[in-house]
Amino acid sequence: MKTTLNRPFRQEMIRYQGWFGAFSRAFLSNASKTGREAMGLKLVHSQRVRHLALTLGEDLDIDQRALFLSELCGLFHDIGRLPQFEKYGTFLDAKSEDHALLSVKVLKENQVLKDLKDEERQVVLDAIYVHNKFSIPENFKGLKLTLSKILRDADKIDIWRVFDEFYTKGKGSNEINLGLPPGDAISSEVMEDFSSGRIVRLENVKNQLDFMVMRLSWLFDINFKASLKIITQRGYIDTILERLPQGEERRLISSKLSRFLKERLGT
Ligand SMILES: [Fe+2]
Repeated sequence: MKTTLNRPFRQEMIRYQGWFGAFSRAFLSNASKTGREAMGLKLVHSQRVRHLALTLGEDLDIDQRALFLSELCGLFHDIGRLPQFEKYGTFLDAKSEDHALLSVKVLKENQVLKDLKDEERQVVLDAIYVHNKFSIPENFKGLKLTLSKILRDADKIDIWRVFDEFYTKGKGSNEINLGLPPGDAISSEVMEDFSSGRIVRLENVKNQLDFMVMRLSWLFDINFKASLKIITQRGYIDTILERLPQGEERRLISSKLSRFLKERLGT
């Protein structure tokens, strides 16, 4: 049977949610209308990632304590987005600071996790710190590794939702495309990365088409079958694929993805 978070942990979580709400409100009340909207999207994202982290943890059947910590990772992973936007007016780390590091700083400075055991606090902080890095450090083991994997999957799934809503409903800001030009062809370096089953490196991304392929390549970094199922069921992959120009590249990308999903999902 799958684990679900029991009552004492749920009550604990309400306390953390209370802190999250109060901290967020302080930023929202100081912000302009645009700022409030931008930060609001990150707050929605945080709650969705929290929920996804719980769902994935339940699917893995991890114990109560781990499930609780997994939910905490989801809730707080992007808390640094608030000071980031307030200070720099952007969510682009390249033009400001590493937002994961900012999240860790906020949690430490405000002693948000003071009631956790030292070791658990470090696990949560480390999982949050690596959530936006290219890969998980090899020395991550045990619970730290599991929570890092859960958080990275949950975060990617919800970022796909944001892209999906941008493309299908025109929701969200153009900042999503990092100010890249639209482009008329996928760059060869991007195709090379993708064809070898690697995550496309941001330094190879020259235009929005490349960026779409990079988003697709995130699938190669997904850790759990349950995550892949959510992504395919919600149609996130098709939304991106359909927006690539028709031709040889799109055909290659599509067949590589089908083969990959077939292998991983065993369908
Ligand atoms: Fe993040």
